[in-house]
Amino acid sequence: MKPLILLTGGLWYIGSHTCVTLEQSGFKTILLDNLSNSSLSSLDGIERILGYRPVFYDADIRDRGAVASILKSNDFSGVIHFAGLKSVGESVNEPFEYYNNNIQGSFVFFEEMERAGIRNIVFSSSATVYSADNTLPLIEEAELGTTNAYATSKLTLEFVLRNLVAAKKWNAIALRYFNPIWAHPSGYIGERPNGVPNNLLPYILDVAIGKRDKVWVYGDDYDTVDGTGVRDYIDVNDLAEAHLAAIHKVLTWDTQSFHAINIGTGNGTSVLEMIENVRLASKKDIPYTILSRRPGDLASVYADSSCARELLWWEAKRSVQQAVEDSWRFVCNNI
Ligand code: NAD
Ligand code: UD1
Repeated sequence: MKPLILLTGGLWYIGSHTCVTLEQSGFKTILLDNLSNSSLSSLDGIERILGYRPVFYDADIRDRGAVASILKSNDFSGVIHFAGLKSVGESVNEPFEYYNNNIQGSFVFFEEMERAGIRNIVFSSSATVYSADNTLPLIEEAELGTTNAYATSKLTLEFVLRNLVAAKKWNAIALRYFNPIWAHPSGYIGERPNGVPNNLLPYILDVAIGKRDKVWVYGDDYDTVDGTGVRDYIDVNDLAEAHLAAIHKVLTWDTQSFHAINIGTGNGTSVLEMIENVRLASKKDIPYTILSRRPGDLASVYADSSCARELLWWEAKRSVQQAVEDSWRFVCNNI
């Protein structure tokens, strides 16, 4: 029988890609989402790719009764826990909302998992758990430290999972994503930020389709290849495969363990290189203006991804250019 995996927050960006990858790799998935940052249109996209619609529960992880009933009425082998709010900037102004949704919500959810006897989990963490004072590439043992409620929620939940592994014999992997980007090659699912995009690629794509006039480049005086900020952009389809490898690992471990694992490519791309990638994919001019540095930004951030290779036998396979082409197709399909 195929193992059944619950994807909390599974309806939107990373969750929908992971749903497709798992379903195409011998798992069954059920999605739970409160639609706070998503819509049912994603189920249509998943159905167009898979040819069937996964089961979906419109529920909040903080709703103990709903969670208990969902966990009780399905025979889950494990959980991939994506559900959460994810804007660093918003979390600076709304820490209570982030602690309530991400931390308190996960406490409720974990308690109900324990009650239901489900102890296998892959958790969406983030490279934001690292302090700014580390040398590159970032290894998992690098210094941890957070400066905003979003990152604090991720780091707190990593510690909670460590405790649950030690005390309650859970199996847990926290995947520390670097900069997830792009879309499914079908063009049916992808990232659709509401309003003005915070992140670089969605913003450049908005300029390419004519929704915005130009890209604002935050600083060209960093010590990088062309002076602009460098990040480790990870294709969301590679990221989905990292979840496949991670859930497989937690289901097959014979000793209870916790691991935090970087999920990046190990390579950096600058802002200007990214603009050039979109220009090539879209064949559109991408006007840009250089501004001063964005407060809080680092010059370069990229992962040491050897732990993922060793523990999960996973590494990123897709090129940035291929991934930008997928994203451009998605944007054109969803204007
Ligand atoms: P997303 O917003 O597209 O998906 C998260 C989903 O969780 C949304 O569909 C939302 O409706 C749902 N959700 C939020 N609170 C919920 C609650 N209380 N109950 C049920 N559902 C709830 O985000 P994403 O980009 O797919 O990110 C998934 C996870 O990965 C998040 O935990 C995020 O913090 C983490 N992460 C994302 C990035 C990134 O850049 N996208 C980077 C690092 C980590
Ligand atoms: C942000 C989040 C991080 C999240 C990551 C991936 C913050 C502080 N961090 O990081 O939590 O995991 O996204 O989603 O918000 N840039 C421009 N112009 C723009 C937008 C960005 O020049 O309009 C530059 C930035 O200065 C940076 C690079 O592009 O050098 C990437 O920025 P962004 O996409 O916001 O990602 P991060 O800052 O790495």
